Amino acid sequence: LRTILVGPPGAGKGTQAPKIRDEFCVCHLATGDMLREQVQQKTPLGIEAKKIMDVGGLVSDDIMVNMIKDQLERNKSCKNGFVLDGFPRTVPQAQKLDGMLAERKEKIDSVVQLLIDDQLLISRITGRLVHPASGRSYHKEFNPPKKSNVDDVTGEPLIQRSDDNVETLTKRLRTFHSQTGPVVDYYKVKGLWQGIDAAQSPSVVWENLRSIFVSKK
Ligand code: AP5
Ligand code: ZN
Repeated sequence: LRTILVGPPGAGKGTQAPKIRDEFCVCHLATGDMLREQVQQKTPLGIEAKKIMDVGGLVSDDIMVNMIKDQLERNKSCKNGFVLDGFPRTVPQAQKLDGMLAERKEKIDSVVQLLIDDQLLISRITGRLVHPASGRSYHKEFNPPKKSNVDDVTGEPLIQRSDDNVETLTKRLRTFHSQTGPVVDYYKVKGLWQGIDAAQSPSVVWENLRSIFVSKK
């Protein structure tokens, strides 16, 4: 399974991708999580990336492509396949991904778009809580942790992302439509695209995703 989950901020990529990883034994590569790790470690890249992320822009294509390349080479569970979350976000990223995979004699076998209206995303984003170390996400109302404000698995505190406010969300949505919209067309032309309704509950979305991938196995 070599798939890409594409969708606007709050569509549910980070909620669903780990389920795909666990069910199909593939790696989950989330470029947003990778960047947030750099931010947390205060690396030079992290310091620069934070400025861009906090205003809803995009980090440079070369940096992002190299991050994915590095993970595909180093992460052994990627040998079995992968689910990409938050990448590719621009057409040049998609083209470079194709080149990188061709060198590995691999190719993308499906692209699934999580379809949802922008106005439904505000409450999802403003109510989100995350466990920084694992990238696990919760929602105050829609998917609350077992114990208030702590991660179910580690018991560590949950935080709110610094880009999870209405102002930055508006900019992230604008970036999604202008930069990532063309990526969707790129895969439609190749006949790899499928869309699913992401406004349903997380469990319904998961069942629909699962049946897409089971039918492809
Ligand atoms: P990234 O981390 O990828 O953020 P994003 O694309 O904005 O997506 P989110 O993580 O906000 O949403 P999600 O779809 O994962 O939603 P989730 O499942 O958590 O990127 C952040 C930034 O990094 C970018 O803005 C950019 O600056 C930079 N960046 C990253 N990749 C890059 C790249 N390739 N190139 C350049 N720059 C890059 O769900 C959201 C909330 O809703 C949660 O609280 C969840 O519990 C809840 N929820 C989920 N599903 C449902 C449901 N079905 N019903 C009700 N609630 C739900
Ligand atoms: Zn995410």
